[in-house]
Amino acid sequence: MTDTHVIAVSNQKGGCGKTTTAINLAASLASLGKRTLLIDLDPQAHATFGLGVRGEKTALSIYNVLTGQPDRKKSFLENVILPVGERFDLVPSHILLSTIEQEFTNKEESVSKLYEALKSLSFPYQYLVIDCPPSLGFLTFNALRAAETVLVPLDLGSFSLMGVDKLLSMAELLRVKLSHTPKIYALATLVDMRTRFSRRMMEEVRAAFGEHVMSTVVRQAVAVKESQALGVPLLKFDEKCRAAVDYLLLGQEIVNKTQSAPPQLPAETNGRSEAISNFLREFMFRAQGAREVHLVGDFNNWRLSSESLLWQKEEGVWQKRLFLEKGRYRYKFVVDGHWLTDPQNDTLEPNPYGGVDSVLEIE
Ligand SMILES: Nc1ncnc2c1ncn2[C@@H]1O[C@H](COP(=O)(O)OP(=O)(O)O)[C@@H](O)[C@H]1O
Ligand SMILES: [Mg+2]
Repeated sequence: MTDTHVIAVSNQKGGCGKTTTAINLAASLASLGKRTLLIDLDPQAHATFGLGVRGEKTALSIYNVLTGQPDRKKSFLENVILPVGERFDLVPSHILLSTIEQEFTNKEESVSKLYEALKSLSFPYQYLVIDCPPSLGFLTFNALRAAETVLVPLDLGSFSLMGVDKLLSMAELLRVKLSHTPKIYALATLVDMRTRFSRRMMEEVRAAFGEHVMSTVVRQAVAVKESQALGVPLLKFDEKCRAAVDYLLLGQEIVNKTQSAPPQLPAETNGRSEAISNFLREFMFRAQGAREVHLVGDFNNWRLSSESLLWQKEEGVWQKRLFLEKGRYRYKFVVDGHWLTDPQNDTLEPNPYGGVDSVLEIE
């Protein structure tokens, strides 16, 4: 997680463009070549639905990650992740999240649940974007705790600076209690610069946030609603529309602001972003009554460890997701000490030890 930058999109006011910003900023970062994970932390699951993810696919959500058994947490978050685009993955939300606060007895510990879960993530994401609920409770506190950057969308179409002071007080609480100080930036959304009102509001935003205002502003566009109804990011729906262009610029501004931390891969600086594209692969093994199933292969030097453990999705069904770059990989499952090939993969190759391995080729 050391090279990962966490961005929370938060404002207690509803309808100011949090979800739109979270989805489209994440999509833009991915299109700029950054491996990006969007975490939907709003029980209303608008970001999840806005990316076309519904029904059974949300059976496992951020709710399970936050309430999961600690010993399984490591592999758990990774198994809740769903691919939604190139270099773009999602951790869906669920309505169950609305009751989560009552489930924790230790309040002190519970405010760092998300932070701890993200820290254990071993996938190489460069950006994590968190869509927060329109409230300043437990979930938002968790998001701020996990974030290095907080983006505060402000709907310039209405008078919306109200409530921002409460968000800033929460950030102050975070500093005093946990010595954590994320950078907070205002982001003007739903901007219609033709109106004098918008221009005056922008002046007020600058007065309140000083330099901490993103220079990119997001303009109004009808395509925003249309793209959300279809469950795709703006860049996929109409890349030329004003808001799509603005979110791409916002992605670039975020990259510029945060670049000093993550080292650049050579392929990216050459502008050949497709060369670094990663592939989320799902491995599944059926083993009724097994106690422990591992996945080992060229990708983890055939080493058995807590990292190679599969988790039991349902009785007898074991699963693991891995990020694999282009290449050729030999692998095997280890079921209670027995080394077995993958029954779902017909490509087998003899190994030097007289046995056979499963082989996976990623183009
Ligand atoms: N730039 C924009 N242009 C037009 N409509 C927008 C824009 N940004 C957001 N909206 C619309 O405004 C409404 C609220 O936005 P949303 O992102 O869901 O806010 P929040 O998550 O803060 O509640 C949604 O219907 C969304 O489609
Ligand atoms: Mg929302």
